[in-house]
Amino acid sequence: MLATGLSIEIKGLSFNYPDGQCGLKDIDLNIAHGESVALVGPNGAGKSTLLLHLNGILRSECSISVCGMKIEERNIREIRKKVGMVFQDPEDQLFSLNVFEDVAFGPLNMGLKEDEVDRRVSLALQKVGMAGYETRSSHHLSIGEKKRVAIATVLSLDPEILALDEPTSSLDPRGRAALTTLLKSLSVTKIIASHDLDLVRLLCNRVVVMDGGRIVADGDSGRILSDHALLEAHGLAV
Ligand SMILES: Nc1ncnc2c1ncn2[C@@H]1O[C@H](COP(=O)(O)OP(=O)(O)OP(=O)(O)O)[C@@H](O)[C@H]1O
Ligand SMILES: [Mg+2]
Repeated sequence: MLATGLSIEIKGLSFNYPDGQCGLKDIDLNIAHGESVALVGPNGAGKSTLLLHLNGILRSECSISVCGMKIEERNIREIRKKVGMVFQDPEDQLFSLNVFEDVAFGPLNMGLKEDEVDRRVSLALQKVGMAGYETRSSHHLSIGEKKRVAIATVLSLDPEILALDEPTSSLDPRGRAALTTLLKSLSVTKIIASHDLDLVRLLCNRVVVMDGGRIVADGDSGRILSDHALLEAHGLAV
């Protein structure tokens, strides 16, 4: 547990992409250890851009701390062990010859022994319902299977923070229910960008609404998800 009790501290984060497109504007966000926070908002709101700042894939001048460590070059290896990031597009996550190697990549990089790597890979694949796929080529899997393996690549790291970008997209109903149950059982800090408000309702105690690169609301999930005017104003209710 941190002295501050904070897993994530973001102060005054603004970010423009190289072509000048605004990605984020004046983001202040503190997430306590063990919280489960949803990021919701319409397409282009800035959810993925915000998540990509949490392990330094995107960087800005502003100060971001993860588990009490400021994100900067000398910490980046340590930070990437702490923050397990599942990208919106599983193609961005899978680059090895086969499923085993993709899921083993993180644990091997952490310098773990072969036995422990094998144990973690088996467990992670079992958790996402992909045991038995070890020797399959990740690139020849269905989109939903790729998403499951992408999630396993992060579970095998046993991170302190899970940053998940649309974790249930492309999953079938059984896969979605199993993933929800799995995520609920993990006591780590979770920050989840999702359009799946059922998942948000089941999993997150707090909802942050983004639009136009800004945070426009932040509060208890029950309150935010029952505020129809707010949801409608930000493209979340039909
Ligand atoms: N590589 C990029 N170059 C330029 N602009 C980008 C890039 N990636 C995203 N953007 C822009 O940044 C803004 C935020 O995009 P982002 O992908 O973070 O949205 P999002 O909330 O994740 O949307 P979605 O619900 O579609 O996943 C959008 O205006 C988008 O067009
Ligand atoms: Mg996105």
